[in-house]
Amino acid sequence: MPDSLRIAVDGTAASGKGTLAKGLAQALNLAYLDTGALYRSVALGLIRQNLHQNIRAEDAVAAVRAISPLNLPDDAELRSEKTSAIAAEVARIPEVRQALIPHQQRFAKHPPKGYHGAILDGRDIGTIILPDADFKFYCDAESAIRAKRRYNELLSKGETATHTDILTAIEARDQHDKTRKVAPLRAAEDAHHINTGTLSIDDMIAKAMQIIASANE
Ligand code: CDP
Repeated sequence: MPDSLRIAVDGTAASGKGTLAKGLAQALNLAYLDTGALYRSVALGLIRQNLHQNIRAEDAVAAVRAISPLNLPDDAELRSEKTSAIAAEVARIPEVRQALIPHQQRFAKHPPKGYHGAILDGRDIGTIILPDADFKFYCDAESAIRAKRRYNELLSKGETATHTDILTAIEARDQHDKTRKVAPLRAAEDAHHINTGTLSIDDMIAKAMQIIASANE
């Protein structure tokens, strides 16, 4: 095992990549960065200034500057479906992606003190942000399963939504993320694929832990 471990977790919307990344972070004492929260925070900044209808690159870049990446808002609105959709819009602006790269790479290179490395989850971590990560995982599951999970998550937070609307939104966002010109969502060639639809949370984490352990045998 290297002195400082760097792990990339990518995947489709609501695929469980955050749950996997947090589980591995805890098991391996790694600092965790939810990179989706960066894009969501930029989106929320635009929504709050009412600049989200026709997003201009300069407004989005100004919103990037206004966020404090180590202190992102812990706000239910951050995870709302409206913010998700605007985040995907913001994420296709090259200047926004470019402005967020150094922060993510710095976090991975210099994780906060006391950690044994860093784990980042997102869409382009294994391909663009950390192409030489020690381990890469790509999470996916059938869209109906992912929509059900997101539906339950939103309901538990008091949001109202229908399962069908969420399914449509998730599929639209995946399509958006996979087909954009800059840093599209795709699995890195050396990523380990995890079908999270057929595994419990514990089994998903155990499977990834097994992959990490067997690389060190
Ligand atoms: O949690 P969920 O999978 O629904 O989304 P997220 O990871 O919070 O990401 C929200 C949106 O931000 C995605 O749909 C992408 O458009 C964008 N994103 C990105 O482009 N690159 C990343 N590294 C992370 C998120």
